[in-house]
Amino acid sequence: MRGGSRASNLARVLSVRNLSKSFTGPRAKIVLREISLDLVAGDYVAVMGESGIGKSTLLNLVAGLDRPDSGQVILDGVELSALGDDEATRLRRRHMGFVFQAFHILPYLTVAQNVALPLVLNGVGDQATHERVASLLEAVKLGDRGASLPRELSGGEMQRVAIARALVHRPRLVLADEPTGNLDPDSASEVLALLRKCVKGEGAAGILVTHSLAAAKTADRTYVLSQAGLSVQARSGARHQAERRGGVKDRRRSSRG
Ligand SMILES: Nc1ncnc2c1ncn2[C@@H]1O[C@H](COP(=O)(O)OP(=O)(O)OP(=O)(O)O)[C@@H](O)[C@H]1O
Ligand SMILES: [Mg+2]
Repeated sequence: MRGGSRASNLARVLSVRNLSKSFTGPRAKIVLREISLDLVAGDYVAVMGESGIGKSTLLNLVAGLDRPDSGQVILDGVELSALGDDEATRLRRRHMGFVFQAFHILPYLTVAQNVALPLVLNGVGDQATHERVASLLEAVKLGDRGASLPRELSGGEMQRVAIARALVHRPRLVLADEPTGNLDPDSASEVLALLRKCVKGEGAAGILVTHSLAAAKTADRTYVLSQAGLSVQARSGARHQAERRGGVKDRRRSSRG
């Protein structure tokens, strides 16, 4: 699947080129075959597909957490597989944000400390970190919970902490793997709306992996991963078209370290 001329006219954030991945061992299997995908700034897409088909594998490859057998992942013009482990870690830390179903919130840090973590790891100063964390906590409606410990939060609140943390360092690419799998429908739709708003507001690109049609509908378009590969799902699209015309703030990074 190619983004085509649209992608070449706008700032391309992510290019996935002919990505293939198989796992060896007792249950050897080819999981991904020649998968391609392009995202430009402001693109927020869903990926659906049956359990075990390879959605999380795809996200792991895009994140550079695992290596493909062949193919390329290019983030803002930088090919991930050409980087060493340290460089890949640095790029991930600076330019990617993750939201996972299992949260990965650290239980012994406060809400504010959890959200601040990417900034601390990136060496951002105390004052700037404090201000940015406060604004993100406001954005996810947890402005008064910064001093709380994670165990004092509900599942939905915890998931909003995870979203704040995924976005606090203004990543170019946000990857969310079943971020609302544990939430009731109301909390889920609130969390999804926030995720979308934050990705769009920052001019980032986002991939939402989900089993929920309702969740997928919050994205600009939906891809289905199957044995046949990645295909875009047809959508009636009045809202989608309107959004496409609505313009997207681009925020290209001037440097990468
Ligand atoms: N490290 C690994 N070693 C061997 N097989 C693996 C490994 N990781 C994933 N797999 C296999 O690859 C396939 C794809 O797994 P993946 O986790 O990507 O599926 P998924 O689409 O995310 O499924 P779900 O919707 O259940 O989360 C599965 O059959 C899984 O068992
Ligand atoms: Mg998965």
